[in-house]
Amino acid sequence: MSRIVVVSNRVSDPHKPAAGGLAVAVKESLRKTGGIWFGWSGRITDEPARGSGQERVRVETSGNIRLATMDLSRREYEMYYAGYSNNVLWPVFHYRLDLAQFDKRHAAGYRHVNQLLAQQLRPLLEPDDIVWVHDYHLIPLAAELRAMGCENRIGFFLHIPVPPPLILAAIPEHEWLMRSLFSYDLVGVQSQADLTHLERYMATEAKAEIVRDGVLRAFGRTLQIGAFPIGIDVNEFASLAKGTESMDMLETMREEYSRRQLLVGVDRLDYSKGLPQRLLGFRELLERYPENRSRATLIQIAAPSREDVDAYGELRQQMDSICGALNSDYGELDWMPVRYIRRNVARKRLPGLYRACRVALVTPLRDGMNLVAKEFLAAQDPADPGVLVLSRFAGAAEQLTEALHVNPYDTEGIAHATQSALTMPLEERVKRHEALMTRIRRYDVHWWRNAFLDALEQAVVA
Ligand code: ADP
Ligand code: F6P
Repeated sequence: MSRIVVVSNRVSDPHKPAAGGLAVAVKESLRKTGGIWFGWSGRITDEPARGSGQERVRVETSGNIRLATMDLSRREYEMYYAGYSNNVLWPVFHYRLDLAQFDKRHAAGYRHVNQLLAQQLRPLLEPDDIVWVHDYHLIPLAAELRAMGCENRIGFFLHIPVPPPLILAAIPEHEWLMRSLFSYDLVGVQSQADLTHLERYMATEAKAEIVRDGVLRAFGRTLQIGAFPIGIDVNEFASLAKGTESMDMLETMREEYSRRQLLVGVDRLDYSKGLPQRLLGFRELLERYPENRSRATLIQIAAPSREDVDAYGELRQQMDSICGALNSDYGELDWMPVRYIRRNVARKRLPGLYRACRVALVTPLRDGMNLVAKEFLAAQDPADPGVLVLSRFAGAAEQLTEALHVNPYDTEGIAHATQSALTMPLEERVKRHEALMTRIRRYDVHWWRNAFLDALEQAVVA
């Protein structure tokens, strides 16, 4: 069996908690089989980085996984991570051209760091290794590796959405960027909608020949593309739920909020998550359905993220102001409508938090998948489960058809769906939950990993 080498922008110790779908899924999928996890250490050095080769790589072992990481200099971080990845690719791929800041220096910095990562990864690779590259930070990595003579099988999985071709075409370097995908043997995306957009882009903008469904040919290479919706480790989550941290959390919540109906949101503090609209939807609920006043409490946990990118600072202020107004306009001496907590919750406590809540509000404006939706369902008591209110624009909506789907821009629609969720009879809750759990179990993180790696092994390389 070939060794798996995972490459992602951020490498996190598998034994420490992390927020973000990618870290959680990669950890789960490497933990059993072991392998190498290569990427940025998350550290920024103030001195200009020295050396371009192996001397920048640090290798540590964590169980059966070798973590190979390198620091970035401040300049590399600013150009590649903050500048291009998060001021161009993230907003554009989430359909937010209004937030994109195009700057040629950032594009050059992005390419430079991809070259650097390729240079340092190359000597770690053995001929039979299968390389699995993740997410938008590393789109040109395979092209850089190929230019260095690497002939390994290389697959790429994009965790974020693929927008329609004309939105992608707004990126000044889109031709170079998308062409570089042809250096992979397999490109995986989260949903059928993403796959359709990718195929249309390749056919119209890159003039690729569609050899057959999911197989494209252009620039002298054949590329396979497919949808591989990412899942969670249901069993691992179930055993976390039985742990003392989770049980304590559940008990604390039940004591603290004994007379309340709880709603929950757990996200990174990111403009793609639709947090202001969600809060305004909740406000609308209190306005239209006043029976929820003094009764319903929304617990919104938001982990700070990418704080040195402007749009994130603005979102933080906006959230402070919306939550402050909600509490001061509707709050009572013995009840506050929103508990807004800007921080990470320890992963071991999450199932207890989810289980204490009757409704989850998962309302991103756009999301590749959204794992919180699946975690919430997996944490519920099957005999008395909570209800998921889910944005139709999350990748998860394609699979989770029995959730209550909403348009996240429509705050009235959020209010109505939330009211239906809060008042849904037990029998209907159980029926929906059962159907959703069948799908979450079937398409879990192990299915995702195996389906992707099997397809990569079988991809026609030419
Ligand atoms: P994204 O990858 O965009 O962050 P996902 O919903 O797919 O969104 O994945 C987020 C992951 O990070 C989930 O596993 C979730 O439990 C975790 N997470 C997100 N926000 C928090 C938080 N505030 N505290 C703890 N875990 C979080
Ligand atoms: O899953 C989407 C994602 O962008 C990952 O690629 C990333 O690791 C995670 O969210 C958290 O973001 P960041 O690494 O920028 O803190």
